[in-house]
Amino acid sequence: MRTQVAIIGAGPSGLLLGQLLHKAGIDAIIVERQSGDYVLSRIRAGVLEQVCIDLLDEAGVGERMHQEGLLHTGFEMLYGGQRHRIDMNHLTGGKNVMVYGQTELTRDLMDARTKAGLPTVYEVSDVAVHDFDSQKPRVTYQKDGQSHEIECDFIAGCDGFHGVCRASIPRSSITEFEKVYPFGWLGLLSDTPPVHDELIYVNSPRGFALCSQRSQTRSRYYLQVPLTDKVDEWTDDAFWQELRLRLDAPGREQLVTGPSIEKSIAPLRSFVTEPMRFGRMFLAGDAAHIVPPTGAKGLNLAATDVKYLSSALIEYYQEKSNAGIDSYSVRCLKRIWKGERFSWWFTQLMHRFPDQGAMASRLQEAELDYLLNSEAGSRTIAENYVGLPLDFDLS
Ligand code: APR
Ligand code: PHB
Repeated sequence: MRTQVAIIGAGPSGLLLGQLLHKAGIDAIIVERQSGDYVLSRIRAGVLEQVCIDLLDEAGVGERMHQEGLLHTGFEMLYGGQRHRIDMNHLTGGKNVMVYGQTELTRDLMDARTKAGLPTVYEVSDVAVHDFDSQKPRVTYQKDGQSHEIECDFIAGCDGFHGVCRASIPRSSITEFEKVYPFGWLGLLSDTPPVHDELIYVNSPRGFALCSQRSQTRSRYYLQVPLTDKVDEWTDDAFWQELRLRLDAPGREQLVTGPSIEKSIAPLRSFVTEPMRFGRMFLAGDAAHIVPPTGAKGLNLAATDVKYLSSALIEYYQEKSNAGIDSYSVRCLKRIWKGERFSWWFTQLMHRFPDQGAMASRLQEAELDYLLNSEAGSRTIAENYVGLPLDFDLS
């Protein structure tokens, strides 16, 4: 079969790219190794920057997000038993974030694709990318015991951190940057009302905790845990007890506990691939970069990659220009590295590192004391959290 753009991966990046290309009249086929239900079963953060909100509207899939999403103008940082509210709206001149679970966003994109009758091939295997450094790239895969080939103009590697696209690039053509953190996040999802109407990021002597939410009746909580912990070792009661120990008195009083509907431990990693374009194959989203979830940047960085890539491909087909394609990698990486920096910085600010020692603890305390009692300090947290302007400093 033939298409203009072959997209590998039906996560948020692949689905959003497919939707934006479709609206511009560009054909794309998505191949996905899992089932649609499996993709939807992944629990991921959903704190959307304005750029991401605008992109979903541009893609024509923002209706339910605006109806069901929760607009947040600030969040709390709990440290030393004291809460400090980061008033994002005031500190950034009116910017906010939207809390809307990634599962729901992915569902909206899937529904739009199905409604438009666009091709997504689920549960494929042995996906391989070929000749992406030529004018005639190809994708091959297996489905129901049959071999298939897609001839295309471009390949979009939206296949996540463990995907095949980045892995298919000769090592001499790619540089990978990685930092692994010495702890994980134990996450719990429960059908209980959130402990607070905004998110609470906690730096306690027992470690980091985060109180987040999916709706007025569904909450998401995280605890920093050692990498050696196993999720089966954590009963729900043990989770709630530890969370209480990391919260302040009002939090302990407001906390409504209940049975977990999902519980898992995720490792934390910073990872960047340079470049992100290889001939006629482009990497986007988690295929090219990973951030620790502390700054809630994963989905937002993926969305801006897709914004740049869709614009570049539309420009190629409609204006016969290679300008966007040629600048894709530089534009993405400028934004990605600032997202990586904030995510790393916020992680080292709010977590207790196993071997941090007394000096590092005092320095962390001093940094928090400064940031939370300085308008300039709080503004730097706020303006990065809501998302820097697009092409912030593209010289
Ligand atoms: N062939 C086909 N599909 C593949 C392959 C392969 N070889 N390898 C991976 N995939 C699919 C995965 O099953 C997954 O559905 O690619 C998709 C990649 O989706 P994500 O990992 O969600 O990455 P992305 O779409 O870039 O979304 C980034 O997801 O992980 C979160 O925090 C991250 O919020 C961010 C968002
Ligand atoms: C979440 O709701 O899952 C979430 C929110 C904010 C974060 C990380 C995760 O920084």
